[in-house]
Amino acid sequence: MNLELQTLSWAQAASAKTDALVVLVSKSSQVQTGLIANMLAQAEKSGDFSSAAGQCLLWWKPPGLKALRLVLVGVGEGRAADVRAGVTAAITALKKSKAASVTLCLSADQAEHLVVAAQAAADASYVYTATKPSAKAQTIVKVVLGVPNATQAKPDFAVAQAQMAGVALAREWGNRPANHATPDHLAQAAKGLAKHARISCQVLGLKEVERLGMGTFAAVAQASAQPLRFIILHYKGAAATQAPVVLVGKGITFDTGGISLKPGPGMDEMKFDMCGAASVLGTFEALAHLKPALNVVGLIPACENMPGGKALKPGDVVTSMSGQTIEILNTDAEGRLVLCDALTYAKRFKPRAVIDIATLTGACVIALGHLRSGLYATDESLAAQLLAAGEQSLDLCWRMPLDDEYAEGLKSNFADVANVADRSAGSVTAAKFLQRFTKDYPWAHLDIAGSAWKSGAAKGATGRPVPSLLAYLMAQTPTATKSTKRSANRPPSAVDAGLTSA
Ligand code: BES
Ligand code: MN
Ligand code: ZN
Repeated sequence: MNLELQTLSWAQAASAKTDALVVLVSKSSQVQTGLIANMLAQAEKSGDFSSAAGQCLLWWKPPGLKALRLVLVGVGEGRAADVRAGVTAAITALKKSKAASVTLCLSADQAEHLVVAAQAAADASYVYTATKPSAKAQTIVKVVLGVPNATQAKPDFAVAQAQMAGVALAREWGNRPANHATPDHLAQAAKGLAKHARISCQVLGLKEVERLGMGTFAAVAQASAQPLRFIILHYKGAAATQAPVVLVGKGITFDTGGISLKPGPGMDEMKFDMCGAASVLGTFEALAHLKPALNVVGLIPACENMPGGKALKPGDVVTSMSGQTIEILNTDAEGRLVLCDALTYAKRFKPRAVIDIATLTGACVIALGHLRSGLYATDESLAAQLLAAGEQSLDLCWRMPLDDEYAEGLKSNFADVANVADRSAGSVTAAKFLQRFTKDYPWAHLDIAGSAWKSGAAKGATGRPVPSLLAYLMAQTPTATKSTKRSANRPPSAVDAGLTSA
């Protein structure tokens, strides 16, 4: 989707040439005058329209307007979540029409939520086509963001474009079926990102992974016909002396459960088990756009979890890169096995923080549903920053506990640690397992099992948590820490990132 920014008042919007003009209406919109304001007043009077968030009214050839379609859409109080609900409703309604270009008309207070509005438009107009090219015909190709002052909105617009590109990439790779998104396909995608300035990529195969001693990662991959890949991405935006943030993404391109085989119904959704990896790729795409003064490393252990004659068996003991031995009691708890070696590898970068992102446990979905990702952290300030980044980008997470008592069940008579405990607090015990490998740096873990994709009729990847990872990273830039202007609900801007002289 093509995004443009324009200065546009309600009066100017009346003469905007576009397939569809979408006007966001909040409670305070009544102060407006002119043609559109009159139509709004009449529609409200008739009872056909109210400014409740998500309420839509569509005109075909609205009298006096240049636009072919007019959509009035309510955004309630005009908060970020209201703007998102409104834009989502309007674009969803237009998706059924033939409109290819859409102009969104935002008032000054709504323009505060420019990043959220743009992302909502992109999310609602997204159509998966990689293995369904026939879907192409429905696409909305161009969105114009009309705001009262385009110059002022420019920094946010830059963030919006970067975030949209990042989320789109994450959704794309998340959605591709496992036979179109193998470990090597992910490695090629990562190498593709290295064509951008400041990004480089290195890909390791089995031999190198074995030489590093990544015994648990190799063990998960050993029954698959698809060779494993260990992907290392670098974004270098600051001096080499500046410690990087390391992002680690779980890249299980298909999770059958292995010998501890998963039940058949719904197993197709385990193609999404690489959404953590996809979010790392997406975040790097966004970094390529915004070029912040930061160093970031991305690590992706990518493989399939398959049953077969060579497969890992319950009771097997494997040695991790850290030297700790692990008793595999359930081969379906494979995510923590590929992550633990990547977390050990992360040490060499002397990172200021390591964040792993993983579709790790069904138990996290039971605990938090699909709204908030599970957040675990050994560092209070890292936790606070990730929570804030989530609120700011409307990509929410929720802090979960790491009390040592939760690790009791991971004790093993045959190895240093078992890979599973009993069913209780399954998301927490998984995090406790990972924590054993993260003693050398501030660490956070995002369990995105509930947030990375949707099931049912809307089945598909969400691109989460790219928005919050990006907001977190942009807040790390030198000028952002000095900035006092940003309110909790405003997305990060390029001003905050030190991209402008403001
Ligand atoms: N990829 C799954 C987690 C998952 C399951 C995410 C369902 C979203 C929906 C992970 O590898 C897994 O299988 N975890 C097991 C752990 C268990 C064996 C301790 C689970 O959650 O059932
Ligand atoms: Mn599994
Ligand atoms: Zn898995």
